[in-house]
Amino acid sequence: MERTDAAYDTDWEYYDDFYADVDDLDFYTALARRAGGPVLELMCGTGRVLVPLARSGLEVTGIDSNHLMLEKAHRKLSREPADVQKRATLLNADARQFELGRRFNLVILAFSSVNHLLTPDDQDRSMACIRRHLSDDGLLAVASFIPHPAKLHSGKLDREVELSNGDLLIRHSTLSSDAAGTLMHVGYRWQVERAGRMVREWNSELDLRLLKPNQLKALLEGAGLQLVERWGGYRDEPLDPKGDVVVFVATPRIVWKENAKLLAR
Ligand SMILES: C[S@@+](CC[C@H](N)C(=O)[O-])C[C@H]1O[C@@H](n2cnc3c(N)ncnc32)[C@H](O)[C@@H]1O
Repeated sequence: MERTDAAYDTDWEYYDDFYADVDDLDFYTALARRAGGPVLELMCGTGRVLVPLARSGLEVTGIDSNHLMLEKAHRKLSREPADVQKRATLLNADARQFELGRRFNLVILAFSSVNHLLTPDDQDRSMACIRRHLSDDGLLAVASFIPHPAKLHSGKLDREVELSNGDLLIRHSTLSSDAAGTLMHVGYRWQVERAGRMVREWNSELDLRLLKPNQLKALLEGAGLQLVERWGGYRDEPLDPKGDVVVFVATPRIVWKENAKLLAR
């Protein structure tokens, strides 16, 4: 299987600084409290979501295939109190092929991680693994950006973020998509400026699978799941196909229960 995490070999260092303002933590914490532990976060990266979940008292396992992202998560966890550390487990594994021999009440694929599954094969393998690891009344939460054709071909200065030491982190991105509109290629140019002088510069690139809300829904349904919630953000916003984000919560469709009801008639 081809690597889908190579961009993070360079981008791990400033990941948390750049994405500090993503406002999904309360959403996942509330969902995890509702579902109850244990929680599995696939593609957990630096533990941006996983560490707060462990802090909130839940047992949580994180899987990621990039060892630098995981090392950062380990370092963050090592600064937490012993009970938080005890509740968190980090595993270096591929989301398309893993077997933990146990089931979870909540599985999370946060922050467009699902878009790293580049081919239908990758998607099917990962969904089959998720289904095997989800308890029969468990929940799967998946968030993806919503692709809009007008935004898929552009070069722009994304954003500048001030780092804790006063340096400025600057990212420019160039986006393009294939003719079929299934994959987006993203090129990033990163720069760090100190007192107006550039002190570091590097490039990274990645591909992402484009998923319209109905395609994501079909992917989940194909894996034997049914949607129980659909959101357009992390604060109860209704799903808007013209919006930026789709968040689905799904649960296994237990066919045998329906069959059992039919047989009892
Ligand atoms: C967008 S980041 C999300 C990290 C974290 N979930 C968050 O919300 O901040 C995507 C993560 O997916 C990981 N990743 C990409 N492909 C993967 C794969 N096939 N298996 C496991 N992890 C993968 C990357 O290493 C990276 O840490």
